[in-house]
Amino acid sequence: MERLDKIISSQGQYSRSEVKKLVKSGRVTVDGEAAKSADMKLEASAAIAIDGKELICKKHIYIMLNKPKGVISATEDRTQKTVLDLVPPELRRRGLFPAGRLDGDTTGFVLITDDGDFAHKILSPKNHIMKTYHATLRDELTDADIEKFKEGLTLGDGTECMEAHVRVIESGERNVAEIKICEGKYHQVKRMFASIGNKVLELRRVKMGELELDESLAEGESREITEDEFERLLR
Ligand code: URA
Repeated sequence: MERLDKIISSQGQYSRSEVKKLVKSGRVTVDGEAAKSADMKLEASAAIAIDGKELICKKHIYIMLNKPKGVISATEDRTQKTVLDLVPPELRRRGLFPAGRLDGDTTGFVLITDDGDFAHKILSPKNHIMKTYHATLRDELTDADIEKFKEGLTLGDGTECMEAHVRVIESGERNVAEIKICEGKYHQVKRMFASIGNKVLELRRVKMGELELDESLAEGESREITEDEFERLLR
């Protein structure tokens, strides 16, 4: 049994005090009858509706954000804008956090959720879920460089990295490589390229698992992911 106001507010759209007002004005029904009070206790099977629209309760939320530069991957900060500040009010709820961090100057796909177990699942290197980045590099990559990533690089401080898959996607005026890693060490991609004497000039995460960033999202925009997309995150 759970309180009506708690159930509705957990979905992020209304605070508990707003739920109280909705109930008072007769806009909330439970199994077709006007709700008597905001603190009434309900079985999980109860059908709640607001203004006649059924409330579909979801346990967790999964949001895809196209992160711009200059925004930090934290939940709150006194001086800098965080990825959570970019989440629109209708998707906000308690306990949201970014599943994996991008540096302030890295752009692209950030998954924001309130599901800690799921975040752990997609971030743990043991599960081999690849994160794909496009890195604009100072210098052209050679086949010998790519081989080093395959073998597992050692970073400047001696940290060993697992195998990474690298391929060149643009060379000449601009040198752009795609890199896939399943780990998330501090500044990992930048440090990997630094360890072979190159330098990352721009970095963008374009994919998590088999789920690509929706390029129709402008920088700073976010949306909830679909069930089908959720499955692709785990591949
Ligand atoms: N690797 C980095 O160096 N920076 C990021 O933001 C993500 C991966």
